[in-house]
Amino acid sequence: IEVSRIRNFSIVAHVDHGKSTLADRLLELTGTIKPGTEHAQVLDQLQVERERGITVKAVTASLNYTYNNEKYLLNLIDTPGHVDFANEVVRSVTACQGVIMLVDANEGVQAQTVAVHSLAKRNNLTIIPTLNKVDLPRADPDKVKAQLNSVFKIDPKSVLSISAKKGWGIQELLEAVICRIPQPSVDSKGYFKAHIIDTWHDKYRGILCLAYIQSGKVQVGQAVKWRSDSKPHVVKFLALLRPNEEPIDEAIAGQVVMVGCGPRGGGSVGDQLLDKELAQNEDAVTVSPVKHMVYAGIFPADQSQHPTLNDSIKKLALNDYAVAVTPDSSPALGQGWRIGFLGLLHLEVFTQRLLQEYKAEAILTAPSVPYKVKLKGAKAIKQYKGEEIIVTNPVHLPDANNIEEYYEPFVIGTIITPVEYIGAVTSLCIDRRGTPLPASAVDDRMTMLQYVLPLSEVVIDFHDTLKSITSGFASFDYQDHGFHPSSLVRMDILINGMLVDELSTIVHTSRLEYNARRLTEKLKEMIPRQMVQVAIQAVVNGKVFARETLKAYRKDVTAKLYGGDVTRRKKLLKQQAEGKKKMRSVANIRIPRDTFIDVLKR
Ligand code: GTP
Repeated sequence: IEVSRIRNFSIVAHVDHGKSTLADRLLELTGTIKPGTEHAQVLDQLQVERERGITVKAVTASLNYTYNNEKYLLNLIDTPGHVDFANEVVRSVTACQGVIMLVDANEGVQAQTVAVHSLAKRNNLTIIPTLNKVDLPRADPDKVKAQLNSVFKIDPKSVLSISAKKGWGIQELLEAVICRIPQPSVDSKGYFKAHIIDTWHDKYRGILCLAYIQSGKVQVGQAVKWRSDSKPHVVKFLALLRPNEEPIDEAIAGQVVMVGCGPRGGGSVGDQLLDKELAQNEDAVTVSPVKHMVYAGIFPADQSQHPTLNDSIKKLALNDYAVAVTPDSSPALGQGWRIGFLGLLHLEVFTQRLLQEYKAEAILTAPSVPYKVKLKGAKAIKQYKGEEIIVTNPVHLPDANNIEEYYEPFVIGTIITPVEYIGAVTSLCIDRRGTPLPASAVDDRMTMLQYVLPLSEVVIDFHDTLKSITSGFASFDYQDHGFHPSSLVRMDILINGMLVDELSTIVHTSRLEYNARRLTEKLKEMIPRQMVQVAIQAVVNGKVFARETLKAYRKDVTAKLYGGDVTRRKKLLKQQAEGKKKMRSVANIRIPRDTFIDVLKR
């Protein structure tokens, strides 16, 4: 194979616009899989993806295709559609020269179409605008072409129309991939240098990597090293992914291949694998750092499972480089970890994978966004004067007296909605403390609204609420907009007078009373009745803002006594009261695990 016959591309689209279905068709047409496996969605390999019907992990497949009697190697990198996984999209574009931008010919341009388009533009990728689902009776290709023209200035003549489901137009699409997307611009003659775009763990072979070869070539048995350390390694495994492994002996610059250096071979995303002769100081490709938007604690269901869970989290984190893992401990839950995620869906998918792939059961605490505080120069903490710290766990928020300024993370949210819902969407955004930016028309029916919103108001359930108030017609995506000054306090939850660390939250002062009431009421509903009375309080700086009482089961210990013996009766009641006190003093209240995650949902 020559580099002029290699094309590296991915499919980007709004969620459900048909990426996985198209990937299946491409694999069929190139003979990689047998036709007729309609719901196979071969690239959605993980169980969680099948269950949720979303693509989580970017997977690559090398396809052979003959065009004008020339053999081409097309490397497809499948990418996930959800906002939470935007970093996987970013990562895969580092190896691509072009993208197929799929737009549902029925739904038209959506918020994520805007996001993936700007991502492709920023990375100078060739965009092949493609309308999908043209088989649907309500598809309106001309309308959507006009939208593409008004929003992105795309020439309607350059737009392809396909049906991934029926297999229409797939050949033309592959030819467009060959003719419109440039060959990889790489140095075929130089020393071997490859950029790692994915890693995963294999039971027998250790860490395996997906690598994009930027220069030179690589062979099995070749001596290599990682940019991150200078220890020598040898390439042990080399394969094309189709998407099943096909072992090869050699790969050249421009290819995307699987590489493994054996059990102690190392490797991580963003690192580079180099020829052992290559100087260490050449400029590295940098993958932009991941922004963690949501943090939560994860604890083993039982402390004896700590080592197993630790092992599983490590392995999963290797495959999901977007998570940040630090050890954590909690009085109620023991030793665990504080984990940073890209969003709530990412958090849910991570824990589901932990359960399904590693059979590890974990307790999750309430999620929170990271906050920033600027410290005062109070006597005790003089050395910190003016210093800014990021608080990822509400429990670690310094005392209010020592804080000069609070900041919370904001995002720019893009919403594309039918015009009849503009009123409802506007009230939602204002209610979530949003500030409007100028709106623009997508066409005569659809409008694009943009708001600067606090991330904390977005991560929990903004998307679900937006969908429900617009009958599912509005779409949403967000981009980071940095930290803004804010008026914040920490609200603690006391259960029978005991602080439950895991339930502390940082809230905006305008939301304080509302949140205090909501949280206590919800806890009252969620905590099962106990043998003792349970007092639930929301407290800020020692002041109680809301209180709920969960009545005890009444156990009538005197029922068996027939009136009469007053002293005996008193004694029994006293014993029972002491029993309650004992229970209370150890605060032995059973809180269901789901409470920690569910209680913060609206
Ligand atoms: P994510 O991975 O979650 O982002 O979704 P996706 O973009 O990969 O979408 P997927 O391929 O799962 O398709 C979403 C739905 O649209 C599925 O029910 C498909 O069967 C359907 N679909 C995909 N392509 C077509 C098409 O050309 N025509 C019709 N009628 N339906 C299609």
